Amino acid sequence: MSDLPKPYQIVTTGSRQCKFYLTDCLDLFKQLPKHSVNVIVTSPPYNLGIDYNSYKDTLSRSEYLTWTETWIGAAARVLRPDGSLFLNVGAKPSDPWTALDVAQAARSHLRLQNIIHWIKSIAIERASAGAAAGLTRDLAVGHYKPINSDRFLNDCHEFVFHLTPHGSTGLDRLALGVPYQDESNISRWRGAGEGVRCRGNTWFIPYETIQRRDRDRPHPATFPPRLPEQCLRLHGVKRVQLAMDPFTGLGSTAVACARLGVNFIGAEMDETYLAEAVARTREARAPRALPGRATRMRKAELTSSTMKRRAEA
Ligand SMILES: C[S@@+](CC[C@H](N)C(=O)[O-])C[C@H]1O[C@@H](n2cnc3c(N)ncnc32)[C@H](O)[C@@H]1O
Repeated sequence: MSDLPKPYQIVTTGSRQCKFYLTDCLDLFKQLPKHSVNVIVTSPPYNLGIDYNSYKDTLSRSEYLTWTETWIGAAARVLRPDGSLFLNVGAKPSDPWTALDVAQAARSHLRLQNIIHWIKSIAIERASAGAAAGLTRDLAVGHYKPINSDRFLNDCHEFVFHLTPHGSTGLDRLALGVPYQDESNISRWRGAGEGVRCRGNTWFIPYETIQRRDRDRPHPATFPPRLPEQCLRLHGVKRVQLAMDPFTGLGSTAVACARLGVNFIGAEMDETYLAEAVARTREARAPRALPGRATRMRKAELTSSTMKRRAEA
């Protein structure tokens, strides 16, 4: 990577670095050696007429899909053979093919290994949650943009396509493990020794509530840092020497990398967004993140002893 141009900014966390490039991602991809990136977590423009600062989100469908295939081909070249591209795409209710068309455009370059559903909002009836959930009333959580329509539903999810070079990239499924609710399952299922099970492919990740959009989230289409954080953990943080986001926006993937102690490289064509991404990454250096394995084990133990007490009562 010694031939790379000078980054716009570098944010250093211990021995790790987040490098930000003010450039078209196709130019950055060209400069990266083949097989040099472990994980790409990104969300390109969706071509839905979103009002970005500089990028015009209004290509014709065929131009957009041709461009999509070009950048995914460039991403596939730099990915390691055991790498992962986590590609987040949304759609608008009146144009639901967009996300699926984008996934199709990846087909000649990468295998579709998993489809993850990023759930932004969900309603759960108390009765269907079961007594163990302890709900006192029906639950409705998360945020979405309500639409006024007699044809289309409110859009409460987006896709995260997990694309890999050979469809055989190993994952650290228990890094996102969910504690078993019923301890009898712990001995029944193989691989359940840690008291947690695979989270599966529905991830409830709400946006943080904000007071003022222009000040708190000055970009029309971001994902919360917890989304890339979960992608990186699932790929296996220890295996990541370099993560990338070719469409950095406000730097959610960079923030996740700073929290997890992972090297990051990102491109963004808009300087206002990139400057904000750098500021957010600087702020994010204090660790927070999802519960670590030890915490999960403690939670699993608690669940298991609660079950025991219930059984004995
Ligand atoms: C959907 S947003 C990404 C948001 C980001 N995931 C976040 O959470 O902040 C897409 C971004 O890509 C940028 N962009 C569009 N075309 C680009 C290109 N060719 N190279 C680099 N950035 C580009 C846009 O300015 C926009 O900020």
